[in-house]
Amino acid sequence: MIKIAPSILSADFADLGREVRRVSSADWLHVDVMDGMFVSNISIGVPVVKSLRKATDMFLDVHLMIEKPVRYIDAFADAGADLLSVHLEADMPPGIRAALEAMERRGVKKGIVLRPITAAEAVLPYIKDVDLILVMTVEPGFGGQKFMTDQLPKIEAIRRYIEEYNPACHLEVDGGVDPNTAPLVVRAGADVLVAGSAVYGAADPAAAIRTLRGE
Ligand code: DX5
Ligand code: ZN
Repeated sequence: MIKIAPSILSADFADLGREVRRVSSADWLHVDVMDGMFVSNISIGVPVVKSLRKATDMFLDVHLMIEKPVRYIDAFADAGADLLSVHLEADMPPGIRAALEAMERRGVKKGIVLRPITAAEAVLPYIKDVDLILVMTVEPGFGGQKFMTDQLPKIEAIRRYIEEYNPACHLEVDGGVDPNTAPLVVRAGADVLVAGSAVYGAADPAAAIRTLRGE
């Protein structure tokens, strides 16, 4: 079963409650947190997650594009995130490990994320301890970029690792997912698709969600 996670980065932040209701037929809500350091852009932070938690029962999938994310795990857990994902490039391995341990303590689902430059093998030290691996198919920082086809072999490789080491782990793909690229990432082994512009840019977001699911 494919899950669709609309990214609110493409929503109208002045009317976020309505924007969340527009995608309520989706499975998860994807929240992009950017610090202006790990990526050049600055997006949203803890107070917005807290407000989203009051506005919806949807599963909040929070993608942390921040340096040394271990500093913020408790704050986002308190805000009501269901899953936190940290970039492997955002700290040294002990820092990543500490972030995952903090999530475990807080009962939050644990994710790791790979930038396009990072190889599939980088997940191996963590794969048995995480609930989700997120493969970026654009450079993180902005919505509306072009899907990077060269990431498909990496998705396939990580799907093989998941089958071998942790079959319950989700494989999520983020960046440039639209009705044309969704079948490619599903065929490569993804089971959670993030989509910003393909959902919020559509006249009928519910129909766009069904199309992305392959219905
Ligand atoms: C990019 C973000 C994505 C972004 C996806 O750094 O992680 O979640 O919102 O947007 P689209 O689907 O438009 O590529
Ligand atoms: Zn994202």
